[in-house]
Amino acid sequence: MRIVVLVSGSGTNLQAVIEAVKTGELDADIVAVGSDIPGCLGLERAEGAGIETFVVAPADFGSRPEWNRALQAAVASYVPDVVLLAGFMRILDAEFVEAFDGRMVNTHPALLPSFPGAHGVRDALAHGVKITGVTVHIVDSGVDTGPILAQAAVPVREEDTEEVLHERIKVEERKLLVQTLADLSTRTG
Ligand code: GRF
Repeated sequence: MRIVVLVSGSGTNLQAVIEAVKTGELDADIVAVGSDIPGCLGLERAEGAGIETFVVAPADFGSRPEWNRALQAAVASYVPDVVLLAGFMRILDAEFVEAFDGRMVNTHPALLPSFPGAHGVRDALAHGVKITGVTVHIVDSGVDTGPILAQAAVPVREEDTEEVLHERIKVEERKLLVQTLADLSTRTG
């Protein structure tokens, strides 16, 4: 299974996937890691692991559709079986989603369909839920609305801040993501 990973941030989910490939827990090749943010830590992690990287930054394009098309072409050039959004913080347009229909996987730090969007942890905390968690799902044309592949619950503690809760969710997120990709690779060969 050929995976292209897109990241925008610290890349700890990416790191977990890199390690799972290394140990053989996940039978897959990370063929490239791409980002919208030049120099982000996720890209550094990929480079450290000897994985090819690419950047398609919105600032280099005149419009959002142009940026989307350029990113789509860059991803497609690696002929991936799976496109993994691992903390990729920009919304991809319908054309992009269609190009990789059913093969794009996202991880979201809340129990969807509750608390979609960029602030899933903050919104769950603000709502006062006692249990939140993480969802790994297939991307469709909505925001965090696609078919759910796996979920794990994380209890909210009285004293939680957004940061503390997010870190606890991310511990579960990394495990669930690796497990879900391993299941996919077993199914798809
Ligand atoms: C993850 O919790 C992801 O679900 C969210 O942002 C975080 C990214 O973490 N959208 P990292 O870059 O993998 O460390």
